[in-house]
Amino acid sequence: MVTRLSVNINKIALIRNSRKGNYPDLIKLAQDCERFGADGITVHPRPDQRHIRFSDIPALKQVIKTEFNIEGYPSKHFIDLVCTNKPDQVTLVPDAPNVLTSDQGWDVKNNKSLLEESIAEFKKRGIRVSLFLDPDTEMVELTRDVGADRIELYTGPYSWNYAADRNSQIKLHIDAATKCIELGLGINAGHDLNLQNLGFYKVQLPRLDEVSIGHALITDAIYFGLENAILMYKKCLK
Ligand code: PXP
Repeated sequence: MVTRLSVNINKIALIRNSRKGNYPDLIKLAQDCERFGADGITVHPRPDQRHIRFSDIPALKQVIKTEFNIEGYPSKHFIDLVCTNKPDQVTLVPDAPNVLTSDQGWDVKNNKSLLEESIAEFKKRGIRVSLFLDPDTEMVELTRDVGADRIELYTGPYSWNYAADRNSQIKLHIDAATKCIELGLGINAGHDLNLQNLGFYKVQLPRLDEVSIGHALITDAIYFGLENAILMYKKCLK
């Protein structure tokens, strides 16, 4: 089964924003990622615009030919941004406004109406919705009930414990993925995936539709070049 690689380009925007001007050019970089084999481009605009700026979104939408995935907390502003620009997929995360990076999945039970209402807005416009979740079968069941199409499994703890305890971590992900299959939900995964831990993750899961990877892939691109890095990650997904 094919697993798509969506490249998260937030880190590139972070470098661009550290100086005046437009270098590196985010739009060209997104196009190059696609040319080098990426199956999608992911961005995560945060309220302080420290990496992706809101103004990047329409420009990216115009050029991305593969799958465009926008991640974020469903604030009024975020919902408007997504509904106006209509990406292929929106991934909802429960991040507080000033969090460094996403660090937990949704508590779907306690955010039921927020999720139901925002998911309905996206679905009305034909945008696929994925919810960022810890590998927790109870939350997976609730995800189906609020109307999402997919989940994105939060792989942070799996990745940090990969060397010491990969087997007990992966079991949680296998159980959550099995529940998704039973309920007809798609399965994405992301956070701290890298060249060491991605291959094992891919072969263990009964299905994996998409991974979104930023930090490690962009870091590897410094050593190997962007094209090689993308090919190396794609190889782990074969
Ligand atoms: N998924 C979500 C929801 C994220 O917030 C991030 C980071 O922006 C990623 C995936 C990608 O994580 P990483 O940069 O560690 O590959």
